[in-house]
Order: sequence, then C-alpha cells, then structure tokens
Amino acid sequence: MFKSNQVSDLAIFGGPPAFQEKLHVGRPNIGDRDRLLERINDILDRRWLSNDGLYVQEFERKLSEFTGAKHCIAACNGTVALELLIRASGITGEAIVPSFTFIATAHALQWQEITPVFCDVDPKTHNLDPQKVEQLLTPRTTGIIGVHVWGRPCNIEALTEIAQRHNLMLAFDAAHALGASYNGTAIGNFGDAEVFSFHATKFLNTFEGGAIATNNDELAEKIRLMKNFGFGNGYDNVIYIGTNGKMNETCGAMGVTGLESIGKFIDVNYRNYKHYREELADLPGIQLIVYDEAERNNYQYVILEIDEEKAGINRNEIVQILHAENVMARRYFYPGCHQMEPYRSYFPNAGLLLPETEKLTQKVMSLPTGTAIAGDEISTICQIIRFAQQNSADVRTRMGQKPTA
Ligand SMILES: Cc1ncc(COP(=O)(O)O)c(C=O)c1O
Repeated sequence: MFKSNQVSDLAIFGGPPAFQEKLHVGRPNIGDRDRLLERINDILDRRWLSNDGLYVQEFERKLSEFTGAKHCIAACNGTVALELLIRASGITGEAIVPSFTFIATAHALQWQEITPVFCDVDPKTHNLDPQKVEQLLTPRTTGIIGVHVWGRPCNIEALTEIAQRHNLMLAFDAAHALGASYNGTAIGNFGDAEVFSFHATKFLNTFEGGAIATNNDELAEKIRLMKNFGFGNGYDNVIYIGTNGKMNETCGAMGVTGLESIGKFIDVNYRNYKHYREELADLPGIQLIVYDEAERNNYQYVILEIDEEKAGINRNEIVQILHAENVMARRYFYPGCHQMEPYRSYFPNAGLLLPETEKLTQKVMSLPTGTAIAGDEISTICQIIRFAQQNSADVRTRMGQKPTA
C-alpha cells in the first residue's frame, strides 16, 4: 500500500519502499507445476533429453494448431531462430530493420555479416514505417525484417506489397506477438516466416526457446536441416551447412505445459492491462499504449509513453522513483539499436534518419504484469506514478532537476 502524503515519504527521498521485494517486468508465468514435473520425470525415465524428442515434437504440433501455421520449428532460443531463418531464406547484403527493437533483431543479421539498415518507426504504432522502408532500399537490399513490437502487428499489408514489388524476403520478428492476429489471421502466417521467442520473460516461456513459423515447405525443410548440423536422413549424412539450434526436451515440456494455460495467461494480462488503464486514465502526459480490441492480443506488455511537457516529469525520473520503491520498471527499448555497439561506431549518424525512434527511446517504459503480480500491487504502482506526477515540481526540485515550466 502506498500512503504517502508528502514528497519526502517517497523511497527515493528516504521513505520506506512500497514493496519489500522487487517486482520485475517479465516475471515468468508458470503453468501447471505438477504436470510439468510429471513430464520432466517422464523425460528422465525415457532418457531422451534432446534431439527432436517427443515433447519438442508435441510442442511444435500444438504451436502449429494454435497459430494455424503449417510448420512450427522449435529452436533453442529466439535469436538462433532468427539467425536460422535469415540464413535459410537467403538474405544477404543489407536488410531493413527497425532500431526500435531488442538488440537480437539487429545482431541476428550482423552475426552473419549482413548489414542491418535501421529504419524509422511510426510513432503511433512503434512499428516500421512502410514509407520510410521504401526510401532505404538499395541494390544490396535483399530483405525486410519487421518487428511486431509489444505484440501489435506491423503494417503487414504495406510491407508485403513493398517486398513483392522489389522481390525481397519478408520476415517478422514476432518475439512479442504469439497469440496476436492481423485482420483476423494469427501471427505466424505472414511474410516468408515469423519468429517467436519463448524466453523466460515472455508470457509463454520454455525457460529459453524460440520457433520459426512458416507456410513455406521448402524453407521449413531447410531450417530443420540447419538447426541440426545439416544432418539429413540416416546417421553420418550431412547434406547442408548447419548449426546446433535444437530445443531440448525440458523446454519442450515447459512449452506444452504452458500452452495448456495460455488462455489463462492472456486473460490475466488483459485484466492487468485494464486495471492499469483505469487507474492511469486521467493523468496528463502519461499514456498507456492501446491494442486493437477487434483483433486477438496477448496484452503481455504494459507500456507507458511519458510526455515530459504535459506530465511535468520525464520517463527517466519516473523509472528512478519506481526503482526506489522496488518496482523494476524498464526503459524498453533504450537507447535503440543504432546507439549500441557495434552499430553506433559503424553508423554514427544513423540517428539523423530516425527522429521518431529517438523520441520514443526517451519516452517509453514498461511496467510489471503477468500472473506474478496482484491487483493491489498494480494499484500501488499506479498510486506512486500518480503521486509523482501530481507533485512533479517538488519531486523534480528534490531530485536536483529544474521543474518544467
Ligand atoms: C523483439 C525481440 N526479438 C528477439 C528476441 C530474442 O529472443 P531470445 O531471448 O529468445 O533469444 C527478443 C527477446 O528476448 C525480443 O524481444
């Protein structure tokens, strides 16, 4: 409970923190623990721990049923899944990506010496701006990788049209977007392929894990070979260059168990999202991103945009205040891939073409949600934000900064 009457009661100024234990963004959802332990015992009894085991096969099958995608190929994590897809799809030279994404999207290209060409985003959707994509195409461009940031799909129609017109591969980093839909069709069915992440922080997790979803038989076949050292049929028969991208059986069992609770996870995320929305609705300059409720969404991210002029306080200050109260809100994505190495050194002026990205990286933050957070905890977090905003001038003076005019 946050019962502060005075600014000096805030933990950042010496008051007791609102929470005894840290509340993290992306605290893992655990499905039915007993079922998971049964499955892990079964794995140990069988002594089939990896190499396309029964649980990984079941997870792939159930993911295909869930998304409707013809092929879902499990991988050890989302980053390797992206690397496999990029390699198998023949992207070389340059590929267009947003800078407003997790660094893995860019690294998956650069790891293979493909240049990530950073494109600006639409400030309303936080996703690639198709018009700007077109302006960045060169004779070396072979692909576009859109990211469905926060699980809100890119403008898939426009990107598909550009990719077709210029004969480019089109892939989506759908790490955030399992369970979301675009024009009623599940994510997992667009572009040449889409990649999911099941990292521990994702609302459906396999401890670590990822998958490539595609309706392209040839591409699926190639990725399956590549993720298993290029082994074809039979022992000792390597027919392709490959790596080790396999998911192990405990991860498969975690995925199968998690999928049994996915509806519940989404319901809880939606309830939390609405709770934050109601409690923060009237705060000037503090806006929760909206999801298109005519589509399916997973609501796994509670994202605020802070307009410093209207709120009287900025994103970094709110994050600092929350951290002191043990609410580990994140500046996500900060500072943008183009500001991180090696890209900052390779492209020191990239920011000039990324004005919307630069603004977003200063305003956006993410708050804890998921099954590990209770309604009264959400209320407390909202009360802290409200209190800080309503007392912004005093708060800022104490933080040693000038109040906004
Ligand atoms: C947008 C995005 N792409 C890629 C990844 C990488 O996935 P993984 O952590 O499973 O390698 C993540 C998250 O971790 C992500 O948020």
